[in-house]
Amino acid sequence: MAEFIDSILKEHRIFYPSDEFSRKSYIKHMKEYSKIYKKSIENPEAFWADKANGLEWIKKWDIVLRNDMGFFKWFEGGYLNVSYNCLDRIVKAGKKDKIALIWEPESGEEKTYTYGQLLKEVCKFTNVLKKFGVKRGHIVEIYLPMIPELPIAMLACARIGAIHSVVFAGFSSDALKDRIQDSKAELLITADGSFRNGKIFPLKDNADAALKECPTIQKVVVVKRADNSIYMQEGRDFWWHDLMNKKNIADFCEPESMHAEESLFILYTSGTTGKPKGILHTQAGYLLFSYLTFKWVFDIKDNDIYFCTADIGWITGHSYIVYGPLSNGATVVMYEGSPTYPNPDRFWRIIEKYRVTIFYTAPTAIRALAKEGDSWPNNCNLKSLRLLGTVGEPINPEAWMWYYNAIGKGRCPIVDTWWQTETGGILITPLPGATPLKPGSATKPFFGIIADVLREDGSKANVNEGGYLVIRNAWPGMLRTIWNDPQRYKEAYFEKFGVYLTGDSARIDEDGYFWIMGRVDDVIKVAGHRIGSAEVESSLVSHKAVAEAAVVPFPHEIKGQAIYAFVVLKKGVKNNENLKEELRQHVANSVGPIAKPDKIQFADDLPKTRSGKIMRRILKAIAEGGKDYGNIATLADPGIVEVLVRSRVK
Ligand code: WT7
Repeated sequence: MAEFIDSILKEHRIFYPSDEFSRKSYIKHMKEYSKIYKKSIENPEAFWADKANGLEWIKKWDIVLRNDMGFFKWFEGGYLNVSYNCLDRIVKAGKKDKIALIWEPESGEEKTYTYGQLLKEVCKFTNVLKKFGVKRGHIVEIYLPMIPELPIAMLACARIGAIHSVVFAGFSSDALKDRIQDSKAELLITADGSFRNGKIFPLKDNADAALKECPTIQKVVVVKRADNSIYMQEGRDFWWHDLMNKKNIADFCEPESMHAEESLFILYTSGTTGKPKGILHTQAGYLLFSYLTFKWVFDIKDNDIYFCTADIGWITGHSYIVYGPLSNGATVVMYEGSPTYPNPDRFWRIIEKYRVTIFYTAPTAIRALAKEGDSWPNNCNLKSLRLLGTVGEPINPEAWMWYYNAIGKGRCPIVDTWWQTETGGILITPLPGATPLKPGSATKPFFGIIADVLREDGSKANVNEGGYLVIRNAWPGMLRTIWNDPQRYKEAYFEKFGVYLTGDSARIDEDGYFWIMGRVDDVIKVAGHRIGSAEVESSLVSHKAVAEAAVVPFPHEIKGQAIYAFVVLKKGVKNNENLKEELRQHVANSVGPIAKPDKIQFADDLPKTRSGKIMRRILKAIAEGGKDYGNIATLADPGIVEVLVRSRVK
């Protein structure tokens, strides 16, 4: 971390968009940005109301924004349908035959859907859901890989006002179980398997294991993807293709009229406690925010081909593969598999194959692919690219420069977009035709967003002084609450300063540019994935050999951060390398492979205060290999620090 902060403090390079790029873009100059920004924060309600006219409403709103005792409501009294706005509205605008979705499987032939075809598939699946008795307000759990049925299922839910809760297909059966138990879904959509690196991941087996402890689930719809043998429970499990091919399934379905503040989806993400938070997003505000941010941040034009490498199981896929792009009538490429299958040029091949113009990925992927050398991208035709984007974690200037030169050939602006599951869409970002870029900085707030950096006491930090990143005002895409836990919503986000607390630290430089420094809570960003230390700790402690565990991040060349676990074994348990591997596997099984600790150190004890609180700050310093452990005098046994340092895993 120290090294990283050092490198961004020394970063003074500036990159400007070409005149041609600026001329053709929506926001052409910083003067224009400043003018619109000023208006947008002086009167955010007028700004958002004006933009909301870009969507099609069944009935317009009565009131733009209301603060209901700390719970924010946007466009109350307004009615619309999200799936109508993403499909029917585009078809009616004459784009029935425009390609909406290009699906690139890991191996095999691609599949495309025009807006007209996608609308038909969505309507058919909506009718399937209706036959199962799914109604507005019901929750549908979706545990699918990156296949077209995933966005189809989401849009079908939106069409009848069912609330979707997508669980990342890389999560384990335990993680799926926890999320279903919290959301109390009645229907699950999954697949017989998914492909990654040529291997089959047994989704349906995982689902079956989870369902043993999920009594709320009545019916399961299974997509045939991997053609492997699975168990189908009579009366509970149904094949997607059987349901869709029934003669009585009509290919149109009237969209429901949804109130602006009815729930659209729940997406679980990690917080500071072991229990994942169900982040709730609602209809109109979320749609408007993903629509407008997509349009202006990616400067989307009718002939663009846009490729986002995120998984739809995360918020990036929700907002910038499904809702943002489709509500703009864009053409989206979605890819099923691994970036290195069969070779590390897979992304570059996809860009060449479909003449992708806009490419959005994560710093971890950039670092991993940069390491493979320039000949992979150099052997592909990347001339179609005009704009690049990154998201998920801070991007180090070296990776930024490689992306800019080796992929963008010095021609393409990079939008380093900062946001979160909770924010629904991008909050801090360059606007590609206007903003001069500094490698490693997410630059400036989007319209209508007042971002700031505060000290511990709530006062404003000085220029270049690191502090808590907060958002001072409400925006349409913000989370509305935590599912089943409104109290936690208030505490986690608003208690500390009375304004929205992001959980990140940042500094603002002399030009007003934001430099995000990373999480300040117990969330670890492993390869851009958000993992709660407490989730990994409770998984470790649930193993029969483990008495106590503490988990901290350490800097990792490719993943940005990786997990370091300090583990105290139960009396009499022998510690050896096999046990380490067993514990790693245990975490993979109970959370997911992405949460596996890279390093495990067995310890006789952990540094604790006299009241028994584990001092993670000290463990983090040890894991990082630093020399400064801060004040250790308050420890019950200060001698422990030295013992731990001596057997640090390098
Ligand atoms: C956390 C949110 C938002 C989509 C993907 C992640 C980190 C995100 C950036 C960026 C530095 C970033 C933050 C944030 N983050 N984008 N451009 N620069 N850090 O969503 O899983 O909810 O994670 O990702 O730490 O708080 P998420």
